[in-house]
Amino acid sequence: MKFRHSVFHDESKLDINYVPSRLPHREKEHRLLREFFNFLLQIPDKMAQRVIVTGEIGTGKTALCQRFGADIVVEAHKRQVNLHYVHINCREYRGKLFLILQHALTVLKPTFPTRGYGAEELLRALLQHLDEENAFVILALDEFDSLIEAEGSDAVYNLTRMQEMRQNKPQRVSLVCIMRGLESTKRLDDSARSTLQRNVVRLERYGKDQLVDILGERVGLAFEPSAVPEDVLSLAADLAQDESGNARFGIELLWRAGKYADAEDLEQVTPECVRKAVSSIIPTLPKSELEGLGLHEQLFLLGAAEVFSESTEAYTTLTEIEQAYTVACEEFDEKPVSHTQLWNYQKRFSALGFLKSEVSGEGTRGRSTRVYLPSVSAEELAKALRLILERGRRGSMWS
Ligand SMILES: Nc1ncnc2c1ncn2[C@@H]1O[C@H](COP(=O)(O)OP(=O)(O)OP(=O)(O)O)[C@@H](O)[C@H]1O
Ligand SMILES: [Mg+2]
Repeated sequence: MKFRHSVFHDESKLDINYVPSRLPHREKEHRLLREFFNFLLQIPDKMAQRVIVTGEIGTGKTALCQRFGADIVVEAHKRQVNLHYVHINCREYRGKLFLILQHALTVLKPTFPTRGYGAEELLRALLQHLDEENAFVILALDEFDSLIEAEGSDAVYNLTRMQEMRQNKPQRVSLVCIMRGLESTKRLDDSARSTLQRNVVRLERYGKDQLVDILGERVGLAFEPSAVPEDVLSLAADLAQDESGNARFGIELLWRAGKYADAEDLEQVTPECVRKAVSSIIPTLPKSELEGLGLHEQLFLLGAAEVFSESTEAYTTLTEIEQAYTVACEEFDEKPVSHTQLWNYQKRFSALGFLKSEVSGEGTRGRSTRVYLPSVSAEELAKALRLILERGRRGSMWS
């Protein structure tokens, strides 16, 4: 039996739940978390810690905390500290504290009959269980804002103060609260807010180069060697950067692009596969907007679409598009407009998101402007434009 070729070596490395052993460009934040929780390795019962991890969508909050949690548990066990890390997505439990605590207890003590208890009782039971086992836990409360929305200050107060009130007993529960922004903490009362906000780890948006590294490592794990050429990786990074530096978007894009490559039995993932992948995530062929463009804008865009659909490269230059535009003008019996005018079209298209440009770094060929097609399949774009242009031509013949 002949096995079909696949560009993937191990697709599961692109799964949303996969946590890589290394997170490039989050080393500093990982160290900072480690600093905050260092006491757990030496004097675990003497204090409890509360940390907020914040950053926009896809900046690696969840991945960083899970990586950190797994790492610190290994270290603690080496030192005979019975530490657990429990990661809970609060939104999955509708932000209800009792459901969140129920889940934490089921993880730590699977035999515990959690049903029928309120949040305070569950918290007490949790502390009692940890006392019995001489254990400690880091509760990572992901999408923490949903807990604040659902429960307000009381829940936070309970979580943070209850164990402080246990006299002469060891501290057992530390918190990592994960959220995109700090706005929702404004809804807390002063004391709840101040206990939480003392330690904030902020994850900044990823830039293009960082995304290239992050996606590049994932490509190395998930794809066959040389299945993803450098400029395809760069294109995916550009697109992820356009989506507010969202690494998840870049990873999903590469996975889908790989699927398109496999479906077409290609040896390599091509830029067209990436563009198809984007348009499958965000449908982006805006037919009415294309129809609203001027005739020469349409011809220019057609030229660009032709360049990209014939090329295996992700980027091109304005000069190449200009040549293809001239050919398109001949085909539709139009006299080409000036170079300056085309430059303006390119700028306008860049703003509209049809075509994008980036100034490439100082490579061997010096600085240059590279143009790419962000989010539609070049073939589909060319087809749609031809249809519009043909219709326009027939329309003008009849008028
Ligand atoms: N520095 C990194 N190195 C490797 N992979 C990363 C890195 N940052 C993020 N990722 C990956 O990108 C994807 C998105 O990251 P993650 O889910 O942690 O983002 P998030 O900040 O929690 O986003 P959200 O606000 O939507 O929950 C995950 O697959 C994660 O593994
Ligand atoms: Mg997350």
